[in-house]
Amino acid sequence: MRTPLVVGNWKMHLSRDEAGALAGEIRNKLDISPDQVGVAVCPPFPYLSAVHAVLAGGPVALGAQDGHWAPQGAYTGWVSMQMLVDVGCRYVIIGHSERRQFAQETDTDIGKKVKAGLGQGLAVILCVGETGPERDGGITYDVVMRQLSGALEGLSGAECDNLIIAYEPVWAIGTGKTATPAMAQEVHSFIRSWMEKRWGFGAAQKLIILYGGSVKPDNMRTLAAMHDIDGALVGGASLGAQGFLEIVRQADAGKR
Ligand code: PGA
Repeated sequence: MRTPLVVGNWKMHLSRDEAGALAGEIRNKLDISPDQVGVAVCPPFPYLSAVHAVLAGGPVALGAQDGHWAPQGAYTGWVSMQMLVDVGCRYVIIGHSERRQFAQETDTDIGKKVKAGLGQGLAVILCVGETGPERDGGITYDVVMRQLSGALEGLSGAECDNLIIAYEPVWAIGTGKTATPAMAQEVHSFIRSWMEKRWGFGAAQKLIILYGGSVKPDNMRTLAAMHDIDGALVGGASLGAQGFLEIVRQADAGKR
């Protein structure tokens, strides 16, 4: 009932030529239809237009890694949601743990960005997840709940039609340590029940919840086999076309 989604987060990697070549190879070799698995890539800002030109008219969507809440203004170094729409983005990642950590983004900032992105018609991928010490301290659910309520404050279920959640345990990002499928499923199911209490059964059942944190071709299938895991937000393993495409196939296989 929910179409799985696999999103590549290229972070601050690749040259312009490499980004174009990677996008082209993914587009040309993708052998899973968008009704089976949705696919998107999120290049660094300077390459969005170039990658859009490569992807235009094909099944792979374009996304950005962040966006500011203001429509325009004196915000040196920032980029607005309108600008992202203008260069062809359909998705925007908001509240990634690297932004929370290195750009000191708060739940309030993230909430403003989520609203601005949804307001512009972008599909917003809101990232939540606990650090290692938070998991060890037994407060994973408190952290995730705080991040969700902070970011979604004041939004109705209808306004969140285009919302996607990515559960990314911080201790699993770029470390090679993946949450086990059962561990991830527990948190995904918690997120879906939290949404159900807030917005009702229908909205919660439609919500796409991605897993992120050291996703690779060899762990995607068992993760995707979990009831509440609807695909992945992939960092390191999205930087090679072959591996990324295999992750897309495994996301499909896990749902069969
Ligand atoms: P990773 O990154 O796949 O390299 O762990 C995931 C992410 O940060 O979205």
